[in-house]
Amino acid sequence: MVSMTKPNGRLAFFINDASEVRRILVRRHSKYHKGPGFERVKMLLGNGLIVSDGDVWRRSRTMIQPAFSKKNVHRLMTVMVECCDRRAVHWADLATRGERLNITEETSDFALELILMSIFGDDYENRILTQGDNPFAFLSRDSTRDLSVVMKVRHLRELLTSIIEERRSRSDETHFDFLSMYLGATDKQGRGFSDTELLDELMTLIVAGFETSANTLNWVWHLIAKHPDIEKKLIEEAQRVLPNVSAVNADSLNAMQYTQQTLEEALRLYPPVWLFTRRSHEGDELDDYDVPSGTDIYLSPFILHRTERYWSDPTIFNPDRFAPSDKPSKDRPYFPFSLGPRRCLGEYFSFMEMKVHLGLLLPRFRMRLLDDKEPGLELGINLRSDADIYLQPEER
Ligand code: HEM
Repeated sequence: MVSMTKPNGRLAFFINDASEVRRILVRRHSKYHKGPGFERVKMLLGNGLIVSDGDVWRRSRTMIQPAFSKKNVHRLMTVMVECCDRRAVHWADLATRGERLNITEETSDFALELILMSIFGDDYENRILTQGDNPFAFLSRDSTRDLSVVMKVRHLRELLTSIIEERRSRSDETHFDFLSMYLGATDKQGRGFSDTELLDELMTLIVAGFETSANTLNWVWHLIAKHPDIEKKLIEEAQRVLPNVSAVNADSLNAMQYTQQTLEEALRLYPPVWLFTRRSHEGDELDDYDVPSGTDIYLSPFILHRTERYWSDPTIFNPDRFAPSDKPSKDRPYFPFSLGPRRCLGEYFSFMEMKVHLGLLLPRFRMRLLDDKEPGLELGINLRSDADIYLQPEER
């Protein structure tokens, strides 16, 4: 653990110890709120689930959690397949022409389109794509959060407000998408979300739900291209479990054990949320330190997932670490989706999405590396590659 006094005079701890991380995220979570950096995220997401704390967070989490049940996620599987089909058309075209493919952009477009279709259903085609350029596209392209982004966000919120109003007025129709589930959600007093709350939660869902999966898939394609032995096993599994598109269902996806391990291992090396921050709002004690109220806490899955004390040969990509017989013991720190009550709500959704993506696209396309250069890291809010990754697609 490292303690420091920040330039603004605030005390901070950087915690690199597995059991202390667990203590903060799980056992003592109620003593901590979200920490530094979240003020900026608030500008984009208002008081949505990722940034809210205390009673506001508890109420929203209780209202939203049922939307993420396995049963509901399974109903969105057809949308996942459709988004893969859209990518395949473009990839086949590039492969025929011998052109290289920007996998960073492709995985980003895939994940953004999927989350938008999962939230808005038919309104994605009817209300969003009809706007000309997809008004959400900047979320995947703009890494700068400047004034033009603020304007685009304002425009988005206006668009979302009109979609919400229209949906509320045609309550006779039966939709199945996140928007309909959020519109129907009620708290213990039977109250639903207000329009502003709903807007914040929808923006949160879009931002939380696409960049993380997109970044993971970006790294996964790069890692697979670098490891032909692992690629072979993944293809063998996909061909066995998903011989055709109609075989995509909950049972077959759950049977993709090696793909699951590969994704878990990619998330070990490249956890998209690489740094978590918290701020104590009452006093606490760690093993050797007192934590007064108002202390900033930093925790990094990126560092703990690569610490030799916990992982042998930590920089080696080896999906066998996650074989059912060799699951990390409780004291090995592994928390790409966080731990405890604030754990990610989209974990199951994202594994399903990534398995459909790999299961359908990998047996069709071989991706070759263009060179041996290792992509650098951009440690922003999310862990990205510092430049887009290009691969050479070939149809198998
Ligand atoms: C590989 C994919 C993903 C990763 C690694 C990931 C990771 C995380 C992490 C680490 C947090 C907690 C952050 C913190 O406590 O500071 C979180 C929260 C959250 N995630 Fe994910 N996420 C992923 C995909 C998704 C998807 C696909 C969705 C939605 C469809 C989603 C929805 C959420 C929500 C709503 C929260 C806030 C939960 C709360 O505070 O109660 N995530 N995610």
